[in-house]
Amino acid sequence: MSKVYVFTDYGGADNQQLIEREPPQPGPGEIGVKVHAAGVNPVDWKLRQGLLGTSRPLPVALGGEVAGVVTALGEGVEGFAVGDEVLGLVADGAGGYAEDTVLPAESAVIKPKEISFIDAAAIPIAGSTAYAGTHQVGLEAGQSVLFNGAGGGVGLMAAQIGRVHQFQVLGVGSEDKRALIESTGATFVASGEGLAERVREMAPDGVDLVFDLVGGKALRQVVSVAKDPAHVISAADAQTVTELGGQVLRRNPEMIAKITGVIQYGLVDPTVLATYPLEQADQALAHVESGRTRGKVVLEIIPADN
Ligand SMILES: NC(=O)c1ccc[n+]([C@@H]2O[C@H](COP(=O)([O-])OP(=O)(O)OC[C@H]3O[C@@H](n4cnc5c(N)ncnc54)[C@H](OP(=O)(O)O)[C@@H]3O)[C@@H](O)[C@H]2O)c1
Repeated sequence: MSKVYVFTDYGGADNQQLIEREPPQPGPGEIGVKVHAAGVNPVDWKLRQGLLGTSRPLPVALGGEVAGVVTALGEGVEGFAVGDEVLGLVADGAGGYAEDTVLPAESAVIKPKEISFIDAAAIPIAGSTAYAGTHQVGLEAGQSVLFNGAGGGVGLMAAQIGRVHQFQVLGVGSEDKRALIESTGATFVASGEGLAERVREMAPDGVDLVFDLVGGKALRQVVSVAKDPAHVISAADAQTVTELGGQVLRRNPEMIAKITGVIQYGLVDPTVLATYPLEQADQALAHVESGRTRGKVVLEIIPADN
């Protein structure tokens, strides 16, 4: 048997539990994986709350990004072998907060030796989202970009990618994340009332790109600082950004390999600042659900020295 963390009803966190199941087997085009580490993302609690619909059959296994070791190959899979260290997106419904899971081979890549399992688990969703948001609008060195929500899992990687591209990076967050955001090379801007005015003092002509990771009121507060409203991208709030004339984030599986290479060469650190064992998945998810995360939160399912 194999452990997996699930929710048993849509709604609050009291519907979550660790259960046992038969290890899932890979279907055609999939790989079976022994999970070493799993990323914890806001989409996980949004799914449990029913914000993404309530049609998935219960219980629903949580978690969408993992790093681990290949245990089995489904029919037609090429480019992977049993024993390979990999990272990737979890197959729909298979769950990443788990001892064993299944990945579509097309959204998995070989984990470079230079990247730990813990850092690798931050790449498939958070890393590729940071990559997507910094490449969706073609910018040149010297142009300016503002990351709204720069202190979280995606924001810190996005700010570092901005530095690699020699953009002028403004990172918005709460005051307690000033040093963390500045450590990426970004200029810190305090979030909250008066944000647009503070940005205007630093960039009187506005910024070339706004990449929003918060949505709602915080997105509305900042949209006016973009030189062109079409150059506002949100990963957090498709409805509001569309209403404001901006763009919804577009992410694809090829970006996983691209950001993996950037991290392999040490240009971006996934900045995992909190790890929890699988038995404390409730605390890990509550941490992310608080909305006040510093860097990335990851479940360490097999400790690194094992
Ligand atoms: N569409 C996609 O494919 C995709 C993929 C990944 C993530 N996302 C979405 O992107 C968002 C960010 O994800 P994440 O993993 O980076 O989340 P996270 O690690 O939980 O970070 C969220 C950050 O937002 C900051 N924040 C909260 N309110 C803020 C405000 N008013 N102004 C500025 N910053 C604020 C928090 O820091 P402070 O304490 O400093 O406020 C926190 O650091 C989530 O909504 C997530 O669902 C979408």
